[in-house]
Amino acid sequence: MSETVRVGFLGCGIVGGGAARILLEHAAEIEERAGVPLEIGRVAVRSLSKPREVTLQSETWTTDPWEVVQDPAIDVVVEVMGGIEPARDLIVQALKSGKHVVTANKELLSTVGREVMDAADTAGVDLLFEAAVAGGIPIIRPMKESLAGDRVQRVMGIVNGTTNFILSRMSETGESFAEALTEAERLGYTELDPTADIEGFDAAAKLSILASLAFNARVVAGDVHREGITTVTPADIRAAHDMGYEVKLLAIAEIDDGQIAAHVHPAMIPQTHPLASVRDVFNAIFIEGEEVGELMFFGRGAGGAPTGSAVVGDIVEIARNISGGGRAVGCTCYHDRARMRAEDDAKVRYYIVLSVRDQPGVLASVAGVFAREAVSIASVRQEGSGDEATLALITHSGTEGQHQATFAGLRELEAVKGIESTMRVVGTSEG
Ligand SMILES: NC(=O)c1ccc[n+]([C@@H]2O[C@H](COP(=O)([O-])OP(=O)(O)OC[C@H]3O[C@@H](n4cnc5c(N)ncnc54)[C@H](OP(=O)(O)O)[C@@H]3O)[C@@H](O)[C@H]2O)c1
Repeated sequence: MSETVRVGFLGCGIVGGGAARILLEHAAEIEERAGVPLEIGRVAVRSLSKPREVTLQSETWTTDPWEVVQDPAIDVVVEVMGGIEPARDLIVQALKSGKHVVTANKELLSTVGREVMDAADTAGVDLLFEAAVAGGIPIIRPMKESLAGDRVQRVMGIVNGTTNFILSRMSETGESFAEALTEAERLGYTELDPTADIEGFDAAAKLSILASLAFNARVVAGDVHREGITTVTPADIRAAHDMGYEVKLLAIAEIDDGQIAAHVHPAMIPQTHPLASVRDVFNAIFIEGEEVGELMFFGRGAGGAPTGSAVVGDIVEIARNISGGGRAVGCTCYHDRARMRAEDDAKVRYYIVLSVRDQPGVLASVAGVFAREAVSIASVRQEGSGDEATLALITHSGTEGQHQATFAGLRELEAVKGIESTMRVVGTSEG
């Protein structure tokens, strides 16, 4: 047992800087909790001239991440540089040389997670990643440990703060998507390229990790059906409000008869559902367990301090294991590949807006298409008249395939000028 646990950082940006600061500022409490003092041994960054959140001796800094991984005095490597390469190579080499690893890298875990998990198992060391999903919210450890006796049926989350900010802003001010995105950019809530957030890639990566934990089967980012929020309009949000709903970008994974469905898409959710009140940049994860019932985890999904807190929690767990003996729970994907449900079989409800001609029999012909595809209509509202006439419908639960066939049939109707909008409806008593 070493007398001091030495921590090496790969990256000292938003997350690494936050974690390093917390390690230094909370050193006394952390030593008490870990049973051993912790020290920052080495930190790799790209630029040595950038201002940093922590002041360390000049020889601690390096621009070569391999110096951290190959330093025999380092016990724990904290990978907070992001991206897949060289992070993957560095993590695998660190694990192989017997170092424990903490990472916040959802992109890496949701694509090449298996390789790094296997490397940790083979080496008999810990690989922890609490910060990779929903930043500061403790969700990985509760799912791996506290819910180990239960059967999770569904995980539903708001796991991307940028899109939640944009949709909250659209909901509260009536702004368009483009206007709300500009405001998010002004406040520094977006990446230089916002695609990963607004097109749902970031949420899909996080959902694949949550689904893997929930169902003990490996789900990768490519298994997640994904739609972003760029097509959500102020009219959709007004209509949602009129019917008692909010529009959220939801990441949903569920299991039915051993088959997993994983989706990221904008959805209408009843204003009475706990996720509907999650505003601004906040994240939340709602879990339905067979025995425990409904749980919700809420907090900040990004930022140096919240995410740094999660990283340091992992470091302390590892330091406890080093000082007291023992290992953290390893990979819980006991089924190497998840059985994913065919997209057409997914159970869904939809909100649909049709622009229709103002002529007799429109409602009957529209209803005929729904009846033909065995999709039943829960509610219908007619608005406007003449060229502006629209029908807004909400369906009862049916399959995605039935709904897509209905949309195709509606497009062929002479009475229907076009489908203005479609959006899934979730969180109701029907699912
Ligand atoms: N930001 C969040 O709130 C958040 C939340 C949850 C998870 N994460 C994840 O945490 C990770 C880090 O994100 P971040 O926001 O902290 O990123 P960031 O601010 O861009 O920091 C990245 C750090 O890595 C360093 N770096 C990158 N490539 C390097 C290389 N080849 N060699 C040496 N150093 C290198 C950078 O050095 P320089 O500083 O010199 O450029 C910087 O210090 C990502 O995987 C991200 O997905 C972030």
